[in-house]
Amino acid sequence: LTLQSFLVFCTAVILVCFLLKRGRNPPPYPAGRVPVLGHLLALGRAPHLKLTAWRRQYGDVFTVRMGMEDVVVLNGYTAVKDALVDRSELFASRPPNYLADTIVDFGKDIGAARWGPEFRQRKRFATAVLKNLGMKGGTGSIEEKIREEASCLLNRIAEYNENPSDIAHDVTVAVANVICSMLMGKRYDYRDETFRELADALVTVMDELVVGQIINVFPLLRFVPVVNRASINALKESSKIAKVIRQEIAHHRENLDRENPRDFLDYCLLEVEKQEKVEGLTEEIVMYMAEDLFFGGFNTTTNTLLWSLLYITLNPDIQNKVQQELDAVVGEGLPALSHRSQLPYVNACLLEVMRIRPVVSLTAPHATSDTVKVGEYDIPKGTQVLPNLYSLHMDPAYWPDPDRFDPGRFLDAEGNVTNKPESFMPFGGGRRVCLGEQLARMELFLFFSTLLQSFTFRTPEGAPPPLTDGVFDLTLTPHPFELCAIPR
Ligand code: HEM
Repeated sequence: LTLQSFLVFCTAVILVCFLLKRGRNPPPYPAGRVPVLGHLLALGRAPHLKLTAWRRQYGDVFTVRMGMEDVVVLNGYTAVKDALVDRSELFASRPPNYLADTIVDFGKDIGAARWGPEFRQRKRFATAVLKNLGMKGGTGSIEEKIREEASCLLNRIAEYNENPSDIAHDVTVAVANVICSMLMGKRYDYRDETFRELADALVTVMDELVVGQIINVFPLLRFVPVVNRASINALKESSKIAKVIRQEIAHHRENLDRENPRDFLDYCLLEVEKQEKVEGLTEEIVMYMAEDLFFGGFNTTTNTLLWSLLYITLNPDIQNKVQQELDAVVGEGLPALSHRSQLPYVNACLLEVMRIRPVVSLTAPHATSDTVKVGEYDIPKGTQVLPNLYSLHMDPAYWPDPDRFDPGRFLDAEGNVTNKPESFMPFGGGRRVCLGEQLARMELFLFFSTLLQSFTFRTPEGAPPPLTDGVFDLTLTPHPFELCAIPR
């Protein structure tokens, strides 16, 4: 090959690329892109805020450059609903993610699995199992288990004797235990060795996943010790979670009652035997699906509950209204799901919490499964797409004065909860909608109403008011805060 023919070849390649690209109209880049880093510095520590601010300048659809990768960001109800719900299948895949893929052995789960028949079967099956478990009444039902956990949480909080305390750890334990109950039919004492290991491992994996994300942006960083240590740590801790689940799978296999599946693992093991709904389901895949319930359901529910306690503490009038409603409807006993439809103000409060501080402000990245047009823009197959849910919830066109905490937004003139409000998608939508939405709604209602029925929450005397902006790690988390729980 002569130098001349090599140059001709290169020119031809560049020309073809140029012509191919010219036919396309990609979404614009906001200002602030620098070589190598792209928009990383401009996005800063609160990317949900920056992206929402950019929406005002650049419109609903734009491209951010993350190191070497372009990510199309969708903002506002029209664009996000179009992609997640109306044309769901085109946007339902996942891009490669170094650490998440390694943890779940390249898509053997649900959350990181690429769009395709395997994902569809697993998700449909898991959704049906959770629905079955949720609908089962009586003793051993999910409702019973959450109420039991809520009582334990009440006792823990009562032990603080009205002193200022940070109850984040107690809420974490309660939420993790609900997942354990639903998944493997048992709850742990919070001092239990295995449980502590499990809960610590979950927290560490979530923390390290944040650091590990940088490897997606700069793959070569995996050879830099500090970054590499984070990913090794995440893998080590996730293998501890895997070990606990594998032990439980073995235990469930030995004690399987085929007529009476009790929990998520029982249903899955029956399906492994029958192979009716999920072709090729193995115990290994069940283990990864089970891990997803922890990864998806742990931080999200805990932080939403913490946000609800924070906002209710900061708004005594609203807290008072919640308690009046609980007193009138529930009376002396503890709240149950049967009370839910009679407690519109309690429900409205929880919806407003999820609006003002959506813990999943930016969803996990999606990927297009074909070439698509969004508005006037062309987006190639395999492009990373990031729906900005925060932008929906803070849109003044739907939510006047969006920074104000006001449960009344979710009530109609008759005082009933608004059915399916627009520009509100705390659980996402379409094919990738949250797997645990119904469970999370049950938990939020039962924990929140039980706590508010038993305690009045106040900020500690003389302490500066807690901040409400939160910290953006994988979820939007409140800054650590203390409150006093006064028995009613
Ligand atoms: C996905 C929010 C609780 C399991 C999602 C998504 C959102 C979300 C917005 C969609 C992400 C996307 O579009 O990629 C929440 C919130 C929760 C919560 C706000 C609590 C307040 C739970 C619980 C579980 C769970 C309790 C399980 C027990 C999952 C899983 C996915 C998911 C497995 C991935 C679904 C898929 O990729 O198809 N969640 N979630 N979540 N959630 Fe939740």
